[in-house]
Amino acid sequence: MKPSIYITRKLPDVCIAELKETFNVKMWESEEIAVPQDVLFSEVEKADALLTVVSDPVTDELLSVGRNLKVVANMAVGYDNIDVEAATRRGIYVCNTPDVLTETTADLTFALLLATARRVVEADQFTKEGKWQSWSPFLLAGHDVHHKTIGICGMGKIGEAVARRAKGFGMEILYHNRTRKPEAEKEIGAKYCSFDSLIGQSDFVVSMAPLTNETRHMFNAEVFQKMKSTAIFINTSRGAVADEGALYEALEQKEIAGAGLDVFEVEPITADHPLLKLQNVTALPHIGSSSIDTRMGMIHICVENIKRILSGERPKTLVNTSLLETK
Ligand code: GLV
Ligand code: GLV
Repeated sequence: MKPSIYITRKLPDVCIAELKETFNVKMWESEEIAVPQDVLFSEVEKADALLTVVSDPVTDELLSVGRNLKVVANMAVGYDNIDVEAATRRGIYVCNTPDVLTETTADLTFALLLATARRVVEADQFTKEGKWQSWSPFLLAGHDVHHKTIGICGMGKIGEAVARRAKGFGMEILYHNRTRKPEAEKEIGAKYCSFDSLIGQSDFVVSMAPLTNETRHMFNAEVFQKMKSTAIFINTSRGAVADEGALYEALEQKEIAGAGLDVFEVEPITADHPLLKLQNVTALPHIGSSSIDTRMGMIHICVENIKRILSGERPKTLVNTSLLETK
């Protein structure tokens, strides 16, 4: 019998045609609506491979149902939606999609930074709503980006790509990371800083950190208080690295000047959320890697990883690499 693959979101036919030649492929037929848990559980029972998206919680319980499951290919670089430890214990490969999305996500991060600083979204609404009466000296006046200080928390590949963009804007670049990045220091002129010192000095505090037990709520009330009152917080990594209640207070109390957010503690964030009522917040629906080319590239990597694993080959991009040593 052909191995079975379950895809949790509707993907373009061209992307999966190749898989269909060799495997039984089943797909949740909606692009916008997530697969219901009961459907996912019953599909996982039969699946040899799962292609998931960031909004699918891949828990130990779900994995325990997948008796034939060999691989979970997540269409994202982050994998905090997956219990990787449980997958590893069960001998299930977990794959992600690094590299292909690096520059695209850095572009969006910088777009969000610029938009928040220069109030681009507000200005667009203002213009379209017919509110523009005349040129005026401080109409929608925002914050400069050029020659200001950017503090990047989490200097992985995307962090470095953001830093390269910042260099083009003549910015002073600070970073904090678990390990130092001597090459980034040399090539981009990024300066390593303690978290506290970065927070206190930066005009733009940019979170690029993956969500882990260590980074959950690393941006809390105390941290927002230490930021400059003119600081802008940008988050394109994971919502839960910031305590949203504390972020709301900081913005409302003008402890910081603004926030550009592509990610939220609970996604999708609903329109009645207090953060979305604030004028100094620019909010996006988790679209960091969302260019057509990059999303196609991410799907391609997922497909390639599934094909390889189901054919007994090494995957292209593996999260739980310890499985290669033990198998
Ligand atoms: C998206 O958030 C990703 O992790 O790729
Ligand atoms: C504004 O448009 C200017 O010319 O400074």
